[in-house]
Amino acid sequence: MTISRWSKAQLRDGGWIRRMFMEGIRLRREHGDDGVVDLSIGQPLEAGEGVVAAFHDAVDDRFAGRFGYMPNLGYEDVRARAAEDVGFAGVTPACVAMTSGAAAAIAVALRTFVDPGDDVIGVAPFFPEFRLYCETSGARFVPVPVDASLRLDIDAIAHALTPRTSAVLLNSPNNPSGHVLDAAELHALATLLDEHNARTSRRVLLVVDEVYRRMVYAPHVLAEPLAAYSTTVLARSFSKDLGIAGERIGYLVLHPSLATPETHTGLAQSMRALGFVNAPATAQRALYHLPSWDIHLQPYRDRRDLVLRHVREAGFDAPEPQGGIYQWLRSPWDDTLAFIDALAERRVLLTPGVAFGVPSHVRLCFSAPLGKLEIAAAVLTDIAGQRLSA
Ligand SMILES: Cc1ncc(COP(=O)(O)O)c(C=O)c1O
Repeated sequence: MTISRWSKAQLRDGGWIRRMFMEGIRLRREHGDDGVVDLSIGQPLEAGEGVVAAFHDAVDDRFAGRFGYMPNLGYEDVRARAAEDVGFAGVTPACVAMTSGAAAAIAVALRTFVDPGDDVIGVAPFFPEFRLYCETSGARFVPVPVDASLRLDIDAIAHALTPRTSAVLLNSPNNPSGHVLDAAELHALATLLDEHNARTSRRVLLVVDEVYRRMVYAPHVLAEPLAAYSTTVLARSFSKDLGIAGERIGYLVLHPSLATPETHTGLAQSMRALGFVNAPATAQRALYHLPSWDIHLQPYRDRRDLVLRHVREAGFDAPEPQGGIYQWLRSPWDDTLAFIDALAERRVLLTPGVAFGVPSHVRLCFSAPLGKLEIAAAVLTDIAGQRLSA
C-alpha cells in the first residue's frame, strides 16, 4: 500500500512550517529548551487563568446529551454569543457556525460555496494552508502578489478574475506580512467584484480569514468586510488570541444575506463530508463560560515593538506588523534558504518565505518569551552583518 499521489506531492512541495517545527523538536532534544529559539511556527502565548477556569467550568457543565452528538453548526447559546461578538447589523445566531478553528471554517466555507474546477484568488504572501483548503474542494488556489506596501493590488486581482473564479480568499491581519486590510482596500475590492459579478452573472464569494483579528496594533484598525461586500463570510478563531490552538475552536460568520436554510444544509453536509461533524463540545462550552472574549494585547505589542526595533537597527528591510504575531523580513542574503540554514546553525529557527509564495523573504513569529526574542535579534544582527551573497 502506498500513499496517494497528492500525499507524495505534499512531501515534495509543502510543509515548510511543520518542517521547521520538527527541526525545532529535534534541536530541543539535543540542546534542551533553553538552547533553541524556535520562532518558526505561530505558537500562541500561554492561555490565561480566566481561559483555564472557563475550561474547568465547561468540564463541569451537565445537561442531557452533554457528551453526545449535537447539531452540526454548534450549540445555539454559543452561536448566539458569537453573533453578539460579531456585532454587525442583522447578524443573528443563524449567521454563525461553530467550527474546529479557522481552518475548518475556511475549508467548510469553500466546500459549501465553491465547485471542483473553480478558481479561488488569494494574495501572496499567503498562509500556506490556503492551497490545501482549496485542493480539498477540488478548486485551484490562484495567488497574486500584493503591492510594494503589502496592500491589495486591485489591478492584479482584476487580471486574475475569470468566469471560473468563485471566491477570493484573504487574511487580515495577514500571516505572514502583518498587513491589516483597510476600508479603502475593501471598498476597491468590493467595487471590482460587483463589476465582475455584473458581467458574469455569478457572485464571487469573499472569504476573510480573521484569525488575528483581536491582535491589531493602534493606530491600525480592522475594517469590517461585511459592510463592504454582501457575499462575504468570515473565518474566526480563538487559537491565537486565547492561546488555545490545540483545542480547535473557531466559527464561521455568514453575511445575513447568505444565512438561508439552503446554506445551513450545505454547511452541515460539508462539516460531515470533511469529517469535522461539529466543533469540539468542551471548547464551545468554555467559550460560553468565559465572561469576556477580549484579550490583553500589550504582551504581543511589547514583543512586536522589540523585534521591529532590533531588526530595523540591524538594517533589515522590515515592514511594521500592523497586526498578528509575525515579523516579515526581506532576506539580507540572495540565497534565503542559506540564510535560514545559517540561523538554524545558531539554533534560531525562522520560516523561509517560499512557504508563503515569496522566496525573497523570511517570517519570524514573535509570540515567544522576550529573552528568546533578544537572542534571536542578536543572532539576526550578527548574521545579517555577514554580507554573503550565495
Ligand atoms: C492565517 C491563518 N489562518 C488560519 C489558521 C488556522 O487557525 P486555526 O488554529 O484556528 O485553525 C492559522 C494558523 O496559524 C493562520 O495563521
